[in-house]
Amino acid sequence: MLGKNILRLENFSPDEIRLVLQTARTMKKIIRGDVKKLPNLRGRAIVNLFLEPSTRTRTSFELAGKYLGADVVSINASTSSIVKGESLRDTLLTIEAMGVDAIVMRHKAEGAAEYASKVVKPVIINAGDGAHAHPSQALLDLFTIEQFKGRLNGLKVAIVGDILHSRVARSDVFGLTKMGAEVHLAGPKTLLPRFFNFDGVTVHENIDAALENADVVNVLRIQLERQQSGLFPSAREYARVFGINEERLRLAKDDALILHPGPQNKGLEISNALVYGEHSAIHEQVQNGVAVRMALLDLTLNGESK
Ligand code: NCD
Repeated sequence: MLGKNILRLENFSPDEIRLVLQTARTMKKIIRGDVKKLPNLRGRAIVNLFLEPSTRTRTSFELAGKYLGADVVSINASTSSIVKGESLRDTLLTIEAMGVDAIVMRHKAEGAAEYASKVVKPVIINAGDGAHAHPSQALLDLFTIEQFKGRLNGLKVAIVGDILHSRVARSDVFGLTKMGAEVHLAGPKTLLPRFFNFDGVTVHENIDAALENADVVNVLRIQLERQQSGLFPSAREYARVFGINEERLRLAKDDALILHPGPQNKGLEISNALVYGEHSAIHEQVQNGVAVRMALLDLTLNGESK
């Protein structure tokens, strides 16, 4: 994977996914240890260019780079020259000129990371481009599921909520089906895309059918910032018909795992009790996010360790 741009999971092979997960297992031991430092990326520089809000993804990429010994700088939209009207192209060229090895990028436009990979030479890692893709999130979801379930192949994974605007759902679908899981998507009809008609994916308008016997339930945030008017019922109506709570979770397997990429709208797509309850792996996902991002940075900037 040396030099590979991480743009979307469609262009990962199952072997590459396995390599990331295996490397992340090693990285997780470092995070849990007393001295969170490896020399792997000493002398390398990484810029986090986040032009949309983020807490988990930005901080975890920043810590991932630092735990590997790289120099990491984070830029956000409101304090950069983008507010003075500088274009994305010029921003990227400016960062490249400073001798950077990788740019981790979040942008509201779909295809922004791919565009960056054509404009500049550093490795580009897509940390979310509009509603299109969020590959590192999907990889940390796979990692978390494998940690708790011991496998991915043959599992029933329900992904529920605002599928239409979710870059997480889109990347999860590709990652999960490549690894042999069965994906069931459910949400209000207005928030269900039509383009997920392929092997291993079933789209439901009835949420109960998706939850029934599920091994994993990934609850998505309602993307209020990406909604056009008319797509979303009232919050009360949504919570009543599609919200995941303890009662609805009884349809899933007894040991079902709850995931949510965060941040949660508690009481809307998920109940407070479930976020903090025994089925929840939501906080584990955050830690796993650092391990997976360490793996991605190490594999793309150093290649496979000898
Ligand atoms: C997700 C994102 O930004 O795409 N969050 C994240 O990266 N942890 C999901 C979301 O915002 O709903």
